[in-house]
Amino acid sequence: MKRVAILISGGGSNMVRLLESMTGDHPARPVLVLSNDPAAGGLALAHHMRVATAAVDHRRFGRDRAAFEAELADHLDVAQPDIICLAGFMRILTPAFVDRYAGRVLNIHPSLLPKYPGLRTHQRALDAGDEQAGATVHQVTADLDAGPILGQARVPVLPGDDTATLAARVLAAEHRLYPAVLRRFAAGNRDRLDLD
Ligand code: GRF
Repeated sequence: MKRVAILISGGGSNMVRLLESMTGDHPARPVLVLSNDPAAGGLALAHHMRVATAAVDHRRFGRDRAAFEAELADHLDVAQPDIICLAGFMRILTPAFVDRYAGRVLNIHPSLLPKYPGLRTHQRALDAGDEQAGATVHQVTADLDAGPILGQARVPVLPGDDTATLAARVLAAEHRLYPAVLRRFAAGNRDRLDLD
């Protein structure tokens, strides 16, 4: 049974879907939900779902990313995860942290990578007049939003879309994609999954 830690920064809607998926014959179980924001709404949801939670307020560390990540690592070393899922986690991790957990860290990004790494992905897709948008689950490497792609989900961009309507459609696709990719990854399957 693989042990999964989930890192969040906010509401945790992806985290909830991941927690809900890890039951029955699923090869993984959650061991920790960890946030950089003690006020993250997802922490309360995880607590209600009987999953251990912890928070390390990144603001306590100013610009000292290494010290912040050392405290994240303290919590992770107690939980001993085989897999770490970043789910709406909004802090950039240093290469040292990524190396420490090399090959075990997944992230979901709200664009069809390699298009639109970074922020404001929906606005950029709308500005470009893209007919498709979507989400990507990838392995986390030292380069931001650039690791090996494990899965993608495509959604149409519709006439009249604004960032809110497009973000909602992409988020719904994330909620289908991430659990499906995690299940494969936990089973040792690295084949790319494409949902449309
Ligand atoms: C959303 O913008 C989602 O597209 C991205 O992170 C943000 C928050 O997600 N993955 P969540 O609801 O906290 O999972």
